[in-house]
Amino acid sequence: MTRPLGVALLGLGTVGSAVARAMGDREKRLAATAGRALRLVGACARDPGKPRDAGGVPVTADPFALLDDPEVDVVVEVIGGMEPARDLQLAAFERGKHVVTANKELVAREWRQLHEAARLAKRELRFEAAVGAAIPVVAAARALGAVRPRVLSGLLNGTTTYICSRMEEGAAFDAALAEAQAKGYAEADPSADVDGWDPAYKLSILVSLLEGRWFPPDGVRRSSLRSLTLEQVAEAAARGSAVRYLAVADFGERATKARVGIEEVRASSLEGQATGPTNVVRLETDLAGTLTFVGPGAGGNATAAAILGDVIAIAQRGA
Ligand code: HSE
Repeated sequence: MTRPLGVALLGLGTVGSAVARAMGDREKRLAATAGRALRLVGACARDPGKPRDAGGVPVTADPFALLDDPEVDVVVEVIGGMEPARDLQLAAFERGKHVVTANKELVAREWRQLHEAARLAKRELRFEAAVGAAIPVVAAARALGAVRPRVLSGLLNGTTTYICSRMEEGAAFDAALAEAQAKGYAEADPSADVDGWDPAYKLSILVSLLEGRWFPPDGVRRSSLRSLTLEQVAEAAARGSAVRYLAVADFGERATKARVGIEEVRASSLEGQATGPTNVVRLETDLAGTLTFVGPGAGGNATAAAILGDVIAIAQRGA
């Protein structure tokens, strides 16, 4: 009998805990769709003693206790940020493990280094959860290799959509941001959301997949959401519009231009109707017309769904 596919979690915050819970509460479903049992070997967290709702997974403070464990086949990195996440992903490849991650900053910034490390190790680097959480837009971008993209636009950040929609109801910027943090949408440092880094990383990843070459996140022009005022929001509403923090990539004949910033959309549009973690990705192409993807783009469970989808894909390929 095939032994279970061993999974280790690096990071046990909102997303890591949701992955641990889901692995605990749907064992049969995961085994059926993966074609073999999945086993959560352990998780690594800075403070193993901290009380958390993570389904009783064994917790260590030492990531190498998991990286060096021969029972671990797949390392799920959900620490976020550059270090130690980068070194740990590279260490995982060096030890012959597959890597699944939700870390958009690391994937967007170290695109070449991580893909090269995976290639040399003959292991997979999968990051469906890094963009649009539960919406399979990374898979979609990979599947659309034959089309020429024209414009990609939409909402790639739940925190800023939440802030815009709460300001429509009269809430102040800081109060709305605090609510988004309490709901678990915002990044550890929410300036990544409101100053546009988070959607810039996601746009960089989608453009890189659609173009088949790295589009660095520094190439995305960003303007902050912090300048948004209640007056601006009310004026837009009076015109039948809504203010949203839009991510746009324009795939011109010569060069692709990408930007993230405040824009007005029709209040009745999908973007204008989005009120919280809902992400919207619209892709205009030559062969495939316009494709629209909508769904939960932030939150522990939605992100866990994408991470486990990647783990299942690795299991199906006979890892
Ligand atoms: N901070 C992100 C957001 C989380 O608000 O969309 C999901 O990537």
